[in-house]
Amino acid sequence: MSTLTNKRIILGVSGSIAAYKSPDIVRRLQDLGAEVRVILTTGGREFVSERSLQTVSKNKVHDNLWDSEAELSMGHIELAKWADLIIIAPASANTIAKLCHGKADDLLSTVILAASCSVMVAPSMNQQMYASLAMKDNLQLLQKRGVRIIDPGFGEQACGDIGEGRLAEPSEIARKISEIFQNSLLGGKRVLITIGGTVEAIDPVRFLSNHSSGKMGMALAYASIQAGAETTLVIGSISVDVENRAKTIFVTSANEMHEAVMKNIHDQDLFISCAAVADYRPTKVSPNKIKKNSSQKTIELVANKDILSDVCKLKNKPICIGFAAETENYLNNANQKLKNKNCDAIILNDVSNSKIGLKSDENEVYFITSNGSDKINKNTKQIVAEKIINKIVKEFF
Ligand code: C5P
Repeated sequence: MSTLTNKRIILGVSGSIAAYKSPDIVRRLQDLGAEVRVILTTGGREFVSERSLQTVSKNKVHDNLWDSEAELSMGHIELAKWADLIIIAPASANTIAKLCHGKADDLLSTVILAASCSVMVAPSMNQQMYASLAMKDNLQLLQKRGVRIIDPGFGEQACGDIGEGRLAEPSEIARKISEIFQNSLLGGKRVLITIGGTVEAIDPVRFLSNHSSGKMGMALAYASIQAGAETTLVIGSISVDVENRAKTIFVTSANEMHEAVMKNIHDQDLFISCAAVADYRPTKVSPNKIKKNSSQKTIELVANKDILSDVCKLKNKPICIGFAAETENYLNNANQKLKNKNCDAIILNDVSNSKIGLKSDENEVYFITSNGSDKINKNTKQIVAEKIINKIVKEFF
């Protein structure tokens, strides 16, 4: 189950240039499992098309308080009852002022007045308007009434001004919403996750590494945090943003990753070994760049320590989950790994298929324990990660 699975969200889009980002917000919420309906104000319509929002939300866009057809199917009261949460993003200065006064002169303001669910507001406006005393007072009043505010960002604005007032990023908005529904499957637990690839130096400029992007590991980090766990990340080479609610330790080589894990493993409840750790490293690292005409034409390798196996050997080991990135003989290889490394479960993925695994945004995996294997169907890595966390909790906690 994803954080927003079965959640019904109304996205109110009001008149701000940032309304062009609203289809992206719809997508981010859907990625987390939500069903989204959009209410577009007259001002919002100036900046984003109804057709775009209808296409991405897969629902008719609601915009008219006086639409008799809509009132017969899903009118303003039904819409208000339908929603588990209403988010206005972007929220213009005018829409915010209307909320403060309890006005009901268009569909969005009326639905909000009629709703009993949580309401969130992501302001977006010129920095001077945002800094005005009226706006500060209005936002304070809304907060006092229980409305959650997603603060705007600082930066260059469409009008050329620089300051605070830019709409928060769609991904940030989706995160803030999912935090409201955050479950606490791993509440009070500590989770350590290794992420990304390791880099094994050959000389000062060359190295051995792999294609790991860190996407799956970071998705697991996010899912772990959403599930309420205190999460530590040991991060190798990645090409994704780092989850800033986790404790982070950055490493380069397999040796460094081994050391960082061993230093931090003792009070952990769960260890997820998602990193693509190099099995071997060059026996010697040349202190100088190896010349093209050097007599050295081969690189001698020595095995790295197996981090997962070593954690599994600890006396008070946490629940240990390994990954098996395979290109052939999948289930046999993964089952062998489960036994050899003595871990509690293996997540198997087929890395020969470029549509899933390594650099891709999607994955399809098998969750393998000594009791058998369970397929997690192809989906975004975020949703696959949430399903993995759910399975781990069900199986081991
Ligand atoms: O043996 P193999 O490398 O295929 O095993 C993959 C699993 O073992 C992954 O979970 C990976 O993070 C972990 N691993 C490790 N240390 C290594 C090699 C792999 O922790 N040196």
